[in-house]
Amino acid sequence: MLKIFSRTIVLLVGLGFAGLGLAAGDPAAGKDQSMACAACHGQDGASGLDATYPNLAGQNEKYLLHQLKLIQSGERPILLMTGQLTDKTEQSLADMAAYYASLPAKIGQATGSDEEIAKAQQIYRGGIASKNVAACSACHSPTGVGNAQAGFPRISGQSPEYTIVQLTAYRESRRSSDDHVGGMMRGVAHGLTDGEIAVLADYLQGLN
Ligand code: HEC
Ligand code: HEC
Repeated sequence: MLKIFSRTIVLLVGLGFAGLGLAAGDPAAGKDQSMACAACHGQDGASGLDATYPNLAGQNEKYLLHQLKLIQSGERPILLMTGQLTDKTEQSLADMAAYYASLPAKIGQATGSDEEIAKAQQIYRGGIASKNVAACSACHSPTGVGNAQAGFPRISGQSPEYTIVQLTAYRESRRSSDDHVGGMMRGVAHGLTDGEIAVLADYLQGLN
């Protein structure tokens, strides 16, 4: 009886994750897998070797797992990560995603003038209607933590150098990892100027 019961639980849990499209990640196993990652992404997942390397700490698991799969398959080409994920199973990727998601996120501070911060805040909260730029807060939440359930990434506390590279890459369709959501970030970034991207990136590092 107990055996059947526990098998049913295992089956239900398994189905639950399959239904959500998630593999169950184990943060402890992920920590063991991530030794090599620390060289670039930092021991704490939030103090990378270079400002253009993203913080991973506190990023949501679903987003991380999706990006890891795309990086592994080459659909999101990252030259510096060549070979890093080649021998990883899907379970290892899920474990590393769970590990980085479990670490505390870093929060920085915006360095722009009051005017620049106000301009960024206006775009963040209200978008730019004349250019069809949707309000960032709608998907990334008012505090920039993203939407873990939907797998929309945390963008607050991220290094501005990294954010600038990403927004520019979406704008120029060099990053297409948003295919699975209808290209929504390319659609948003399409209308942004370099100046708007710069003030947004600075604002986001301090948003919380
Ligand atoms: C040699 C340096 C280096 C190593 C080692 C490395 N990465 Fe990266 N990683 C990068 C860079 C650089 C980027 C961002 C590239 C870009 O601009 O898109 C990145 C991006 C990522 C992203 C996407 C983050 C986001 O917000 O979209 C994830 C996830 C990631 N790395 C995980 C890992 C994991 C897990 C490991 C270890 C198995 C690892 N990386 C090892 C340099 C590295
Ligand atoms: C309709 C929903 C939506 C809106 C509006 C939106 N985003 Fe996004 N954003 C997403 C999704 C989904 C992703 C992840 C796409 C992918 O997998 O590449 C993303 C990714 C990003 C990333 C990359 C994160 C990383 O770690 O690499 C940045 C930066 C970003 N968005 C900034 C913004 C800014 C700034 C705005 C407002 C001007 C904005 N977004 C508006 C849904 C949205």
